[in-house]
Amino acid sequence: MTMTMEYHNPVLLHASVDGLNIKPDGIYVDVTFGGGGHSKEILSRLGRNGKLFAFDQDEDALANALEDERFTLINENFRFIKRFLRFYGIKSVDGILADLGVSSHQFDVPERGFSTRFDAGLDMRMSQKNNLNAYKVVNEYDEANLRRVFLDYGELKNAPVLTRTILEAREFNPIKTTDRLKEILSQHLPERVKNKVLAQIYQAIRIEVNQEMDVLREFLEQSLEVLNPEGRLSVISYHSLEDRLVKRFMKNGMFEGEPERDFFGNFSVPFKTVGKLIVPDSSEIKENNRARSAKLRIAEKK
Ligand SMILES: C[S@@+](CC[C@H](N)C(=O)[O-])C[C@H]1O[C@@H](n2cnc3c(N)ncnc32)[C@H](O)[C@@H]1O
Repeated sequence: MTMTMEYHNPVLLHASVDGLNIKPDGIYVDVTFGGGGHSKEILSRLGRNGKLFAFDQDEDALANALEDERFTLINENFRFIKRFLRFYGIKSVDGILADLGVSSHQFDVPERGFSTRFDAGLDMRMSQKNNLNAYKVVNEYDEANLRRVFLDYGELKNAPVLTRTILEAREFNPIKTTDRLKEILSQHLPERVKNKVLAQIYQAIRIEVNQEMDVLREFLEQSLEVLNPEGRLSVISYHSLEDRLVKRFMKNGMFEGEPERDFFGNFSVPFKTVGKLIVPDSSEIKENNRARSAKLRIAEKK
């Protein structure tokens, strides 16, 4: 555990909530509740008739639930945002905030297996209900599949070598812990860039375990469906793969290709981007190291 017992220190708190342009009696969704930092800020700007729904797929986050009549916490994956809002009788909302990735709490609990700092079982699931875990990815994926994970999600040039090294090692004994994985791969981790490469390897496995890219795509598509006209989408991402998807979707309303043109030859797009890319200033990064890779984008539905 870290010295502070803080669950999570919210990143770009004011800018991301400002981005929602909160109407006091509106309905808002925080799809990544965590320690509730962003949710508290949203509630502080809502009036008596406002509502906030929050999602977190991690059971641990439930302990942070806020005592407030206007607030509902849903222990589910945000890839089902539309379905669960409907369950609560909500068809459309005025703003959605997503602060993607892993919480400090998840990093700081050694057994979760997210951190390169500790030895732990190969887990990396954000949700205790997830069937896939890091053990299965590392020990059961075939060569092509594992290479794809390292290439696509870790952007690791030596993905083929890393994959073969794992395949050779696991032939004799399954790889059960993060330390064992590090030991096996140590020959490919030059001291100078060791931490960076390790972080890329962990990131790749984590994205696969939690299906983060598919989940993000499904979430963005549904958020467009549930937002009211002039409703806002405020998204903080932490690596370029996420940011690329968010950027394209906010610009074009799609992930690939170009949108259709309207009668006048203009691109017909569902969002208007609000402001430019926002990143934390140096004082926030100094105070909160997790903020260093954060990128905030805001869009308004037309
Ligand atoms: C970066 S933290 C959010 C921290 C939060 N904004 C705060 O101020 O404390 C991300 C949280 O979102 C959750 N999460 C990530 N992906 C999710 C998903 N697909 N569905 C539901 N929750 C998710 C994680 O479990 C984690 O608690």
